[in-house]
Amino acid sequence: MSLRDLRVALAAAARSFTLAAALAAALAGCSSVPPAPPAPPPPPEESVKPGINKDFLDPALDIAKYEQRFEVESREVFAQRERVVALLGLRPGLAVADIGAGTGLYTLLFAPQVGPKGRVFAVDIAKNFVDHLRAEAAAAQLPQIEPVLCTERSVELPPASVDLAFVCDTYHHFEFPRSTLASIRTALRPGGELVILDFIREPGVSSEWILGHVRASEAVVRQEIEAAGFEFVRREETPYLRENYVLRFRRP
Ligand SMILES: C[S@@+](CC[C@H](N)C(=O)[O-])C[C@H]1O[C@@H](n2cnc3c(N)ncnc32)[C@H](O)[C@@H]1O
Repeated sequence: MSLRDLRVALAAAARSFTLAAALAAALAGCSSVPPAPPAPPPPPEESVKPGINKDFLDPALDIAKYEQRFEVESREVFAQRERVVALLGLRPGLAVADIGAGTGLYTLLFAPQVGPKGRVFAVDIAKNFVDHLRAEAAAAQLPQIEPVLCTERSVELPPASVDLAFVCDTYHHFEFPRSTLASIRTALRPGGELVILDFIREPGVSSEWILGHVRASEAVVRQEIEAAGFEFVRREETPYLRENYVLRFRRP
């Protein structure tokens, strides 16, 4: 075949390919099967424990009353606070989020651990706690503390801004755990960790008050957090805690 014949044959082939493609596109447009409608958005998550945060959300929340309730030796997470902080393995420069910071019991202990180059996001749904923490941080000259008023569905932290999220005595206060966990996952850097400290809830072992107040057992909490896309790292050895357990997870 001459060079000229080859060119003519190639041009004809290209024309018929374009024609076939146009025909296929036209046929697809005439298909009798209508395109599937977009899936409806999932319904918003419902509260798993309506009313559990009523007192915290009260604009008249009395800080002094909660300081007396939370920062008292008879409360295990207060009495063992130094050991709990040591367990977390904080170091200068880390960004930590104290989710459900309350009166700031742990926030104020974290600040010197991460130092002036670190960050402690003190996150809470209660405006009075957040305002109080802002005043405390200023008085203690700890600019690394950043109080954050969040919502019941989101911790409202920037994406990939946190190395470790600490949730003390607060997981059972999450009314919308799936939504809140998704927001914590987004806020954590890949490889960042989530540490949950919460009440042991075991019929026959735990007090009646815990059984009524805390909705989920440790096993259920673990399952919910894994379902939210976290990897289980370990259950911490905490022989000094009798009423509480500590679980550590990682954002993949
Ligand atoms: C029992 S207190 C624990 C406070 C503090 N972590 C401590 O151990 O002293 C629970 C705290 O969680 C806050 N809280 C409840 N639901 C929350 C949510 N979805 N996100 C952030 N904070 C929440 C409450 O306002 C309250 O300050």
